Amino acid sequence: MRLSQRVQAIQPSVTLAITARAKALQAAGERVLPMAAGEPDFPTPAPIREACVRALEAGHTGYAPSAGIPELRAAVRKRVQAELGLAYGDDQVVVSCGAKHCLFNAMQSLLGPGDRGLVQSPYWVSYPAQMVLAGAEPVLLPIPASGAGLNRPALEAALGERTRVLVLNSPCNPSGHVLSADDIDYVAGLARQNDLTIVSDDIYDQLIYGPERPAHILRRHPDLQDRVIVVHGVSKTYSMTGWRLGYALGPKPVIAAMRKVQDQSTSNATTFVQHAAITALESPPALVAGMLAAFAERRKRIVAGLSGLPGLRCQAPDGAFYAFPDVSGLLARSLDGQAVGSALRLAELLLERERVACVPGEAFGAPGYLRFSFACSLEVIDEAIVRLGRFIARLG
Ligand SMILES: Cc1ncc(COP(=O)(O)O)c(C=O)c1O
Repeated sequence: MRLSQRVQAIQPSVTLAITARAKALQAAGERVLPMAAGEPDFPTPAPIREACVRALEAGHTGYAPSAGIPELRAAVRKRVQAELGLAYGDDQVVVSCGAKHCLFNAMQSLLGPGDRGLVQSPYWVSYPAQMVLAGAEPVLLPIPASGAGLNRPALEAALGERTRVLVLNSPCNPSGHVLSADDIDYVAGLARQNDLTIVSDDIYDQLIYGPERPAHILRRHPDLQDRVIVVHGVSKTYSMTGWRLGYALGPKPVIAAMRKVQDQSTSNATTFVQHAAITALESPPALVAGMLAAFAERRKRIVAGLSGLPGLRCQAPDGAFYAFPDVSGLLARSLDGQAVGSALRLAELLLERERVACVPGEAFGAPGYLRFSFACSLEVIDEAIVRLGRFIARLG
């Protein structure tokens, strides 16, 4: 059977593939250290679970308005107003089945054949794939010489009449990097001059390790409200990855278009989950403070451990829950007479030989890096460092 060109142009997710392989090994009785998947390992907090049960018992099990129940849309607007200092109308918000779904709807609404979307490397795997599914061309900006942040010369070179969208993701998956205020101001200037729409994926913005809130384009440049699509959700902040609930806010015509895509594809996000999401968004920060403290401790432990290994260089991430060491120093070395060659092969070898599951940088447009999720226990982190050290010691 012939498949569409669009679907043939995208690759299956490497992250999901590695996670599936690790799970298969686990099912076969192997003790695999799970550092590939991007999800918090905590249970969803009890008040949110209880709100869901109450919603089920109250009979909220039918179809809901496609764009989300009005009470959740109101809670989202209130929360975003508190975060960004901007008011949004009810017709400027849409609730979807995860931030990923919001991003998909946004790409479908903003891009088409002949259009280009800009994505800074290293990037989360789904941005370019979603652009391709919209028929557009993703332009992947190489990692800047400084190792993180925006590649300004590449960005400027990629601007043009058909360049419509730039994705911002701060903190970034996979690097954990938070964009500087200077980079944000630079993007704001470019957006104004070049009629760019900014898609700001803020999914990790509550998982921050420094004292300061990350710079946000709309806090610094509220006049850009009519050209920024804010994407967020409950997955990472509240450990609700499986609940599938995200939301987007933006200018009315874009949100109307995103709602239309949703009307004709999935309809509403799960009705009782939307009721529970109100509890999540209205909860005090104390509800997730324990998780954040645990992530902070794990971050310290993994960065110290990885930095102590020969051939690896690891910067402390500003946010999110990933360590993203540069492993290029290991690639020319060999195992059993064969050169390691690539981060992809290195990740395979680590899984095969040491049962450590991580994601190779190739998946994020960053060959020469590995991503280790530290959404796992301190014991797993310690054990992973031991196994990595043992593996490196065996390299020729
Ligand atoms: C950068 C980034 N954006 C969006 C998502 C999607 O989140 P959700 O679970 O809300 O679809 C993820 C999940 O891994 C992510 O890492």
